[in-house]
Amino acid sequence: MTAADTAAELLSVAREAASAACTLVHTNRPDSLSVSTKSTATDHVTDMDRASEALIREVIADRRPDDAVVGEEEGGDATLSGVTWWVDPIDGTTNYVYDHPGYAVSVAAWVDGTPTAAVVEDPTHARTYWATAGGGAFCNGRRLVLGDPPPLAQMLVATGFGYEARRRRAQGQVVAELLGEVRDIRRMGAAAVDLCSVASGRVDAYFEVGLSRWDLAAGMLVAAEAGATVESIEGGPPRAESVLACHPGRIDELRGLLVGLGAHRV
Ligand code: IPD
Repeated sequence: MTAADTAAELLSVAREAASAACTLVHTNRPDSLSVSTKSTATDHVTDMDRASEALIREVIADRRPDDAVVGEEEGGDATLSGVTWWVDPIDGTTNYVYDHPGYAVSVAAWVDGTPTAAVVEDPTHARTYWATAGGGAFCNGRRLVLGDPPPLAQMLVATGFGYEARRRRAQGQVVAELLGEVRDIRRMGAAAVDLCSVASGRVDAYFEVGLSRWDLAAGMLVAAEAGATVESIEGGPPRAESVLACHPGRIDELRGLLVGLGAHRV
């Protein structure tokens, strides 16, 4: 099997799993959700997050029984050699709980630690994003290619906030300063969708600290395959702890601004 064949096979599993999960959480959304909390009182998990992850795991186990799976709700161990699936069964759980648009199901397959196939389904906007390594990024079948970036002062920049109060205050201070330097900011509530929004030109850049791998494992491949540079805020490979996605022609300028504001240190 060539690398492209492997990526195509993994993509088809990811699409089947994400589509089944979207039918469950979006099409068949129950009238009332059972909601509990995780790391803090504002970090929600619903019965649908758990059911969605269980369903995604079922699809992957059926088609790829030997692969490792790591998911937000059930955990798991990644493998360094071989295929690891990174699953966020509902990214943007707060949006989901409040019935705000913009939550997503995010499924990515990494081979030997390298992002290889990715699907982000954003059902409230009827958008399915996917990408394979070297095969490009797509939204509902349309190829995504980044256009020319605006000047820094005209950039629309997405970000997100963690669940812990001390960090949120610090993140708010960074954003307060940033607002005077760029067009505006957006806090849409799902990291996977933010990265796909960079890919589709719906925002010009995205940065955040303190994510988990499953939040960005799929979206970062979509953004990169559309032509964005995806790195950590301070430079070097992206990490869940620090991610910055932006047009390569503008990333150094934006990084300089963010590092100057201490965005990577909050
Ligand atoms: C959250 C979302 C949010 C981001 C948070 C994440 P979750 O994921 O991606 O946009 O700002 O940092 O934890 O908890 O809804 O899966």
